[in-house]
Amino acid sequence: MRSDIWHYPRLELAKQVLGMFESGLSSALVFFAPRRMGKTEFLLKDMRPLANKQGWHVLYFSFLDVGSNAKEAFTLALIEFAIEMGVIKQEKFHKRIKKIGGGIAGIRAGLEFRDPQETKITLKEIIADLAKQNHKILLLLDEVQILSMDWKNKDFVAALRTALDVHKDAIKVIFTGSSQEGLRCMFSKSDAPFFHFGQNLPFPELQQDFIEHLVKIFNKATHRELDAEKLWQVFLEMSRVPQLIRSLVERLVLYPDLTLQQAKKQLLQDLAADREYVMIWENSSILERLLLKAIVMGEAELFSIDKRTALAQQMGIDILPVSTLQSTLRSLQRKKIIGSLPERGIYYIDDPNFKSWIEQSVVEA
Ligand SMILES: Nc1ncnc2c1ncn2[C@@H]1O[C@H](COP(=O)(O)OP(=O)(O)O)[C@@H](O)[C@H]1O
Ligand SMILES: [Mg+2]
Repeated sequence: MRSDIWHYPRLELAKQVLGMFESGLSSALVFFAPRRMGKTEFLLKDMRPLANKQGWHVLYFSFLDVGSNAKEAFTLALIEFAIEMGVIKQEKFHKRIKKIGGGIAGIRAGLEFRDPQETKITLKEIIADLAKQNHKILLLLDEVQILSMDWKNKDFVAALRTALDVHKDAIKVIFTGSSQEGLRCMFSKSDAPFFHFGQNLPFPELQQDFIEHLVKIFNKATHRELDAEKLWQVFLEMSRVPQLIRSLVERLVLYPDLTLQQAKKQLLQDLAADREYVMIWENSSILERLLLKAIVMGEAELFSIDKRTALAQQMGIDILPVSTLQSTLRSLQRKKIIGSLPERGIYYIDDPNFKSWIEQSVVEA
């Protein structure tokens, strides 16, 4: 991989995590942070290289890219990984796998299980095979909440948990997730498959030294001077999203006449035009939209008679029954658009960027 001069190394964090695994203090952890906060970058550019250097065999797998084929794709990736490590022979799973299509985009794209039922068994076997050999193995499983979005994955997730649990001395895992509600379904609800499996840690936010790093690179690349303190302020105003601040700095490199504030304004406008959020909004019903707006505005007591009367009025109907309200909220939750803290009866928007989008595009508009 071409080295990325803008990348700010997070070696300390990577060392801490590996140290925890090496000492046996912990065998799995879950990093939560909203999207674009730097999880993948950390796994690929800090965690994996450091672990490799210290003799770990590392498999990175992102559930984001595989859609509804998550379990097959992951199992095939494990097979490939085990073959590359020399833990199993290529022939071992031959009978279970058939070739489909050309598979230009890598081997996995052209493979499929003959019998989908085989996936679970294979997963169990392959994890046992990997564990047998006294290698240090680290799995980096990115955006795992995707698995919780499809009930068809339920058995598979349970099998994965069991297999990892049995072999936790040999195989360490870092899970990441960007949906609080999705992760709750997998890791912290008492009936969740991975309940208490790993330590749940918020992914640490980047600090001022990250901004100083960007400034240093900027100054070197452009022979201009960027004010670190002002950039830090903008970073805070943009909710500390590293992706945004990096786009901003890159924009400043390309357009020397742009001020910091102008660049920030442009970026926020781009965010408001985000197709993905526009789509979610357009595909939502009137009641869903009204509820999203109410949640963003921090309204409590969604079920009160006053609130229901107000909502009914906005919808142009006479009454809004509690049951309709409940089922709409449940459906938003199933779609992982909102999450809830049942103990406190509070709802929240799952993706903070979508929350900002609603604020910008709906509430203030
Ligand atoms: N340590 C870092 N140094 C420099 N830029 C970073 C760093 N972490 C994240 N970024 C920027 O933020 C973007 C989003 O990070 P990413 O890892 O894809 O987020 P996530 O996986 O949490 O959605 C990256 O493409 C990069 O531009
Ligand atoms: Mg990511």
